Amino acid sequence: MNSTLNTGFASGLQGIVAAQTRLSHVDGQRGELILAGYRVEDVAPLASFEEMVHLLWYDHLPTAAELARLQQALAPWRALPAATLALLRSAAQAERPAMDALRMAAGAFDLDHPTGVQDDVTMGYMLLARMPAAVAAYWRLRQGLTPIPPEPALGHAANYLYMLNGAYPTSAQVRGLETYLNTVIDHGLNASTFTARVIIATRSDMVSAITGALGALKGPLHGGAPGPALDMVFDIGAAAQAEPYLRAKLEAGERLMGFGHRVYKVRDPRAEVLAAAARKLYAAGGDGELYTLARAVEETAVRLLAEYKPGRNLQTNVEFYTALLLHGLGMPTALFTPTFAAARVAGWIGHAWEQTATGRLIRPASEYIGATDRIWTPLEERLV
Ligand code: ACO
Repeated sequence: MNSTLNTGFASGLQGIVAAQTRLSHVDGQRGELILAGYRVEDVAPLASFEEMVHLLWYDHLPTAAELARLQQALAPWRALPAATLALLRSAAQAERPAMDALRMAAGAFDLDHPTGVQDDVTMGYMLLARMPAAVAAYWRLRQGLTPIPPEPALGHAANYLYMLNGAYPTSAQVRGLETYLNTVIDHGLNASTFTARVIIATRSDMVSAITGALGALKGPLHGGAPGPALDMVFDIGAAAQAEPYLRAKLEAGERLMGFGHRVYKVRDPRAEVLAAAARKLYAAGGDGELYTLARAVEETAVRLLAEYKPGRNLQTNVEFYTALLLHGLGMPTALFTPTFAAARVAGWIGHAWEQTATGRLIRPASEYIGATDRIWTPLEERLV
């Protein structure tokens, strides 16, 4: 018998520690998120995205020279291979959802990469740089517009908005987007990060790990919630409608998108950071009424969730204010999850490198609950 076999089954792997990481720490009881040593609220609203990536990957904030090196390393990768663009064009013509298009494109990101030079670090830079470029190109193609090449003078977040809209973003927009990207860059061993680690642990390759993670992120129980969360706020339309609308949903046994979390049993600290960023962005010009309505919806939802699901501690999660912030940046809801992916890919890459360094295959056990005493019957003797 294997002495290391733990026979206790943990549904959904809840509470199981399956990796060690220095990237981020989630304390669900205290509502704390630490990103490489910093509390999310202390670093996300201040750092540029590249500073945050450096912090995560190299465990310290960059000096000016290190930052310049990182920016220079990313810039050449932003232009997409012709084959990737062709793929995105086909996905746009077929009106495939943006996350499907991104998953297809990511699988082809290394088509122009010389074979034999597939070191994981170079692949990491390439994957990070190309993710927003692919989202922007897909979205423009979907609108019947020509993709816009990256602008070498702009940083990562500004380039994303530039490639999307064809206009230089304002500093308030860049700050809003960077705060978002920084806030969701990493989050412990969530489903997509776990997926990336499982794949890379088989000594597969970085593109496979990131493509697999994209598939995991897409689901509505993980990264697919912000679109529906915003739709819900729009549907409600006025604060007075929040209670009857949400009550009807809960009576029908539906889940309220943007609420509840496997780990956080208090308000997700990222919701606070994003709510503050949204407030700032909307104050700099935007639909202030929408912000006020969202706060009213949040307050009502949390109150009703306590009434309908007592003892579950269902609180606002990151997706609720993601929706509001990204909407304020002029992003269509279809791009909310792909934008999440453009941030989280930095975390996936960091985790993949960490996992590779352990050299250990991830291979949990299962508990068999099927029959054990069946006897073979020939085909002609089998009854229904
Ligand atoms: N609305 C209504 N009820 C809920 C919600 C919700 N948002 N979330 C959980 N519940 C209920 C469940 O129905 C269940 O009730 P029951 O015990 O009476 O059957 C109970 O609370 C526990 O739910 P679980 O599914 O066991 O909780 P789990 O930890 O697996 O769920 C999850 C976490 C998937 C995020 C869940 O809260 C949910 O579906 N939320 C809505 C979708 C969403 O916002 N997803 C984004 C998450 S953040 C992220 O991944 C980046």
